[in-house]
Amino acid sequence: MIIAIDGPAGAGKSTIARIIAKRLSFLYIDTGAMYRALTLKVLETDIDLKETKKIIELASNINIDLTNNDDGSLKLLLDGKDVSKEIREPQISKFVSDIAKIKEVRLLMLKLQRKLGLQKDSVLDGRDIGTVVFPDANKKFYLDAHFKERVKRRHLELNDLGKKIDYDDVKQDLSNRDTIDSTRETAPLKKADDALYIDTTEMTIEQVVNKIFESL
Ligand code: DC
Repeated sequence: MIIAIDGPAGAGKSTIARIIAKRLSFLYIDTGAMYRALTLKVLETDIDLKETKKIIELASNINIDLTNNDDGSLKLLLDGKDVSKEIREPQISKFVSDIAKIKEVRLLMLKLQRKLGLQKDSVLDGRDIGTVVFPDANKKFYLDAHFKERVKRRHLELNDLGKKIDYDDVKQDLSNRDTIDSTRETAPLKKADDALYIDTTEMTIEQVVNKIFESL
């Protein structure tokens, strides 16, 4: 069984997807983390973001593996190394959308996401899961929230991770990513026609989880 959860950054996807997967004993696949891992590798390798060819070559030569820790959280291995923490750095958030808009990169990630999702019952969260990666997913959800609320959540989340980052910088980052993610040519952020739309702005995590469980 495949459960697809899409939506913009800060809508609560990862938190909700992780809880749902843990309760159902499904694999939690954070597809954004995969694009983040590639971005980390690109930055480490000092490739200029304009060098699309080199980025594609790098993407075809790295090994991304994904599992869950006992508490249900994500463990992302990049060439065998656990980079689950590094990929949350603001520097990665800043550039990830530019990498994720490259068509060939998306194709490579799509193959990997399908392979992982077909191995085990899974909950996948991302931008194009219900529209492109698993258009036949058993259940599809689109989580959204007002922009201000999403910025607030992301800012809090980063603070909780010990990262001192200005509210205005988070706002700018989210706004840029919203634009790039929803206007790119390949697999833009979009609600699938058959996805259940949930506006989480005024909902608690538990309320969103319950709403999803009600419709499973
Ligand atoms: O969910 P996130 O913020 O960790 O995602 C990071 C970026 O990855 C996001 O800005 C766009 C990209 N992404 C994507 O293009 N497609 C997905 N399925 C998941 C993420």
